[in-house]
Amino acid sequence: MKASVVTPKPPPTRVSASCRSEIHGAGIGLRRAFLNEFALRPPDHACFFEVAPENWIHVKGKFAGLLDQAADRLPMVCHGLSLNLGGQADLDIGLVKEIGQFLQHYSAVCYSEHLSYCGDSGHLYDLLPIPFTRQAIEHVSDRIKRVQDVLGQQIAIENVSYYCAPSPQMPEIDFLLEVLRQADCLLLLDVNNVYVNSVNHGYDAAQFLQQLPRERIAYGHIAGHYKEHERLLVDTHGSDVIDPVWALLADAYERHGVFPTLLERDFNIPPLRQLEQELQRIVTTQRTATAALSAEMQSVSET
Ligand SMILES: [Fe+2]
Repeated sequence: MKASVVTPKPPPTRVSASCRSEIHGAGIGLRRAFLNEFALRPPDHACFFEVAPENWIHVKGKFAGLLDQAADRLPMVCHGLSLNLGGQADLDIGLVKEIGQFLQHYSAVCYSEHLSYCGDSGHLYDLLPIPFTRQAIEHVSDRIKRVQDVLGQQIAIENVSYYCAPSPQMPEIDFLLEVLRQADCLLLLDVNNVYVNSVNHGYDAAQFLQQLPRERIAYGHIAGHYKEHERLLVDTHGSDVIDPVWALLADAYERHGVFPTLLERDFNIPPLRQLEQELQRIVTTQRTATAALSAEMQSVSET
């Protein structure tokens, strides 16, 4: 009897420990509101841009042409919305494969998704919190690993904002760290989400940042939010970034080194030239942190 030949599955092609070697500086989430302008001339301080692949996979014609034009000018990162990593419904492997083709077509530097769930038998159009439980860690880590196996690369997961934590067995940070470890994936560090959650759930944002593994940080997000009450912030991406969030970004750079950082603006979108001021502030914050870190290294080498 002829022995069956089992072809070993090739190991996933891992991307570098982060996107940090391929993108740098400040980036911006591409929105239809300024697509034309962006494709013609991206803001001076934008070094990369982000799209949700689900919004673009089946787009053709003029808009696809503008996306091609933008991708010719700057590196693209992809940030998914609907993979439903924490959900109970089967993973949509067909969608993952389509996303893989999209990533390849545009040579996208990184693909990230939310550490949340967004559907069951239907799409809920929201990013809902996964319970911070041991069972959920196993469940979501297994699903992230399956996505990485299909794509043949590590993905980054984003720490999301949440407004209730159903029956937690551990704090958010322990949950996040264990998922990163078990899934062996990267982190998209949303600094605004850390700030919003720290206020809403009463924890120390700096301590949260301190515990993150710097080698897993692929890139960062920064955004504005809405203040409903002293103890209730809503993550809207609909206003300018506030000073305490800028300070937290500087703190993150100080602890983990400078990482590429993207401005998210989804509502009340001002003219692109106005958003450029916030991009410039990201760059300034990065330069200040780099100068402080090299001065520190200099003084250590001199002692
Ligand atoms: Fe984000």
